[in-house]
Amino acid sequence: MSWSYGALATEVYDLDKPIGTSFGDVEYYKQLLGGSEGRILEPAVGTGRVMIPLLEAGFEVEGYDTSPEMLAVCRKHCRDRKLDPVIREADMTSFVEPGAYSAVIVPIGSIALLVGRGALVQALACFEQCLMPSGRLSIDLRAPRPFVMEPVPMRSWSAGPFIWTLQTMHVDYDPAANQTTQWLRYEKWRDGALVATELQPFRLQHWSIAEFTALLLEAGFRGVTVTGDYRDGLPPDPESDDWNFNAFRS
Ligand SMILES: C[S@@+](CC[C@H](N)C(=O)[O-])C[C@H]1O[C@@H](n2cnc3c(N)ncnc32)[C@H](O)[C@@H]1O
Repeated sequence: MSWSYGALATEVYDLDKPIGTSFGDVEYYKQLLGGSEGRILEPAVGTGRVMIPLLEAGFEVEGYDTSPEMLAVCRKHCRDRKLDPVIREADMTSFVEPGAYSAVIVPIGSIALLVGRGALVQALACFEQCLMPSGRLSIDLRAPRPFVMEPVPMRSWSAGPFIWTLQTMHVDYDPAANQTTQWLRYEKWRDGALVATELQPFRLQHWSIAEFTALLLEAGFRGVTVTGDYRDGLPPDPESDDWNFNAFRS
């Protein structure tokens, strides 16, 4: 199972990472997919942070997500830019359109929201079925960092008459399952009064490079390569923040 992005989590995501935000990933995907033809699928598309610049660059990208709130914001951003992509409410562990896509991309570590080996195995099987023969799968994982039990500073954003705050209420690490859990408490304020609040239990499943590579091979993918921090062709080093896995359907 994975945890939901509700209304406030969505608003904060969009304030914190508005369309146009890149961690190097947007440029990386533009270059990686350059010259590829056919439909591209972005599972866990969120607000469209990656999909929208790809659409604007001329790629035929479709997206899906489990969060109706994220999808509503994504649709609005598309409408505002006169873009009309296929966007669906669907789950990474079950959505399949057999052989329909030349590439499946999962940026920014969203795959770690699938908790447990079973969910990841199911999702990889779905991605494999969605791809046409020789189609590309590209997945980013955030490199795990040592777990520290220190208070996380509160963050805030403002827009118009509103202020949003985000507090990390609780952090936990389960070494047996290699999962971290944070309770993210969102609050929305207007004129000094609290207008909405939301708690997002945010659990991430961590994988080593060897484990994730083995799961890709087990799912039937071939030609697995791993790049560090979107530097094409350069393997990750101990300082890398992001690991970018690429593999192909047989
Ligand atoms: C970190 S956001 C990423 C959004 C976007 N891809 C980006 O790069 O900005 C993670 C997204 O994954 C979605 N999500 C979580 N579990 C999912 C699942 N099982 N299937 C599809 N989407 C899921 C969440 O609703 C959220 O929109």
